[in-house]
Amino acid sequence: MRVLVTGGAGFIGSRVVERLLADDHDVVVLDNFSNGSRDNLAAVESHSGLRDVISGDVADEAAVAAAWQPGVDVCLHLAAEGQVQKTLDEPQHALRDNIIGTYVPLMEARRHDTRFVFMSSCMVYGSADAGESLDEGSATVPLSVYAATKLAGEQATLAFHHTYGLPVLVLRPFNTYGPFQKASQEGGVVSIFLQNSLEGCRHRVFGDGTQTRDLLYIDDCADFVVRAALAEHVTGEIVNAGTGRETSVLDLAGLVDGNNSQVEHVPHIHSQCEIEHMLCDASKAERLLEWTPRVELEDGLARTRAWLAEQKEGTLS
Ligand SMILES: NC(=O)c1ccc[n+]([C@@H]2O[C@H](COP(=O)([O-])OP(=O)(O)OC[C@H]3O[C@@H](n4cnc5c(N)ncnc54)[C@H](O)[C@@H]3O)[C@@H](O)[C@H]2O)c1
Repeated sequence: MRVLVTGGAGFIGSRVVERLLADDHDVVVLDNFSNGSRDNLAAVESHSGLRDVISGDVADEAAVAAAWQPGVDVCLHLAAEGQVQKTLDEPQHALRDNIIGTYVPLMEARRHDTRFVFMSSCMVYGSADAGESLDEGSATVPLSVYAATKLAGEQATLAFHHTYGLPVLVLRPFNTYGPFQKASQEGGVVSIFLQNSLEGCRHRVFGDGTQTRDLLYIDDCADFVVRAALAEHVTGEIVNAGTGRETSVLDLAGLVDGNNSQVEHVPHIHSQCEIEHMLCDASKAERLLEWTPRVELEDGLARTRAWLAEQKEGTLS
């Protein structure tokens, strides 16, 4: 297979690229490096299967057309503005990157009749009760501009399936964490807490910390995305990925630091976008893609901590 990965220099995209290359597929990356980096692809930069790493924008028709090299079998569309705060501060950029930036590759996919896999997010769901798991039929609510752009992308993708028969799949992974995720304030809560722990800083917890997340380790997420890319018999579907384990932010702080966990409660920065409870029902992924997560949270935390510690040492030496 030859796979075009948009956003392939990002946190999830670069792991997906590695996994595709390890499985002997050819890969073309299209990324504008707004949040990704060539360093994320350093381990595979001289791999013969990595055909091209193109610097370009998914909303730019010429860049997308150039990336659609002959023989592209699948487009994994991961490129997006994913920082919720940024999508609140500058909604016009998120609307452009995530909606126009999905429409343009979709048009190109239609032109070449290429399978198109759209990376949506669990953030499209509304509030659930504690312990209530979310499946693909659960209500979706655009609580943030980010969620709205993902819902728009999903709908456009599915419309191309129903209207033109384009083979497509929509993926809704839950909160993903692991090595290569940024540990700055725009990063994921796991990386931020682990970085705090390594630096001996207190964790800033928004609200009372009882909000829960279903935390998916990066290798499991990449495995899910790659299976979705290759499962040509599965089309026109929306599929969740998560672990089925709900962890509160306070419990996460405890797992990171044990009994020594120091937290400081601060007001939510964007409380209107906060989803109180997130727990994934991934039975459809198991049924259609034979996918189940393999990495327990404790193991994933240990691996991520080790990677962050290595980065820290590298910076100091
Ligand atoms: N991280 C999570 O927990 C999570 C969960 C569910 C879904 N997702 C989705 O998965 C995808 C990847 O997320 P991530 O966490 O790896 O984020 P990321 O920011 O690390 O990756 C996104 C990549 O897309 C690139 N990009 C952004 N706008 C672009 C544009 N206009 N043109 C070309 N490239 C552009 C960025 O430079 C970056 O390399 C996104 O679509 C995100 O919405 C992420």
